[in-house]
Amino acid sequence: MIERRKFIKVSALTGLAGLVSGKVAGTDFYFSKKGQPIVISTWDAGIAANKAAWQVLSTNGSALDAVEKGVMVTESSQNCCVGLGANPDRDGYVTLDASIMDENFNCGSVAFLEGIKHPISVARRVMEKTPHVMLVGAGAQQFAIAEGFPLEAQKLSEQAQENYDNWLKKSEYKSPAINVEKTKEHGPFAPAKLDNGEWNHDTIGMIAMDFNGNLSGSCTTSGAGFKMRGRVGDSPIIGAGLYVDNEVGACVATGQGEDVIRVAGSHSVVEMMRQGLSPEAACKKIIQRIIKIKKEKAKDIQVAFIALNKNGQHGSFAIHPGFEYALRNTNNEKLVKSKSWFNI
Ligand code: GLY
Repeated sequence: MIERRKFIKVSALTGLAGLVSGKVAGTDFYFSKKGQPIVISTWDAGIAANKAAWQVLSTNGSALDAVEKGVMVTESSQNCCVGLGANPDRDGYVTLDASIMDENFNCGSVAFLEGIKHPISVARRVMEKTPHVMLVGAGAQQFAIAEGFPLEAQKLSEQAQENYDNWLKKSEYKSPAINVEKTKEHGPFAPAKLDNGEWNHDTIGMIAMDFNGNLSGSCTTSGAGFKMRGRVGDSPIIGAGLYVDNEVGACVATGQGEDVIRVAGSHSVVEMMRQGLSPEAACKKIIQRIIKIKKEKAKDIQVAFIALNKNGQHGSFAIHPGFEYALRNTNNEKLVKSKSWFNI
């Protein structure tokens, strides 16, 4: 209740002051005045993605268009973990997951999609042109082709082929756990190459608010490198990898999808914000929930949430250090270091 009162007081301040930063109940916060556009996205790849989103937002475009255009940049790059240039599954196929959600609870997603360059755009078509929320595998691909998306050749990128060849030497299937020590330099679960040639996977998740104060979110990934064929993570699951409630706020997740799904992560974070927690405090609450469930195994996984509330206040929280998110608004274009449960 105290936190809620402080939150309202600070929200009122931002109406006068525009951009403000400070502390609420011990957590850092950053504000962008309500109705002033803002975009945040996961990891440092988010800087380039935000640029494209910002072009939309700063010319009075919708948050929905911004979050689609933004993550398309990452899908086109030769990223280890997003798009067709990413690491394959254990059978050598790149399979992609994506989801999108707008300010009216409209949502669409695709999972286990092969041979399509922009899964986020197919997810949007699912949302806009079908009575469904989710299409998977061959059906998703069939729909994409019918909608005019070109079918791309199944050829691994040079880097992905090298990674896969290295992985094949042992062909050792492991769940996509992280090795905190090996990836310290980039932060655990960051897209970093491990000593054994394996790459950690990750995701780009993006949330934007437009001039009208409307929120939308998107999430796209190839999932865990060398995953079991058919494995689907949290990113295309509405409520897990992504959730938007335009009255409250939005959240996206990155990291080990299985553990995000277990706690309906993004939806849970939004519900915490509904109860008055700041975005950072809401993210922390759900990270704590995962840590409680995983017990000592929490040391081996990374999960991070980023969240944006209706007042433009944003924040994040991760299990391990090293996670950062990209922010773009009228005054800023930068990476924000996340707080985490464990410290190096
Ligand atoms: N967070 C992405 C995945 O687990 O697939």
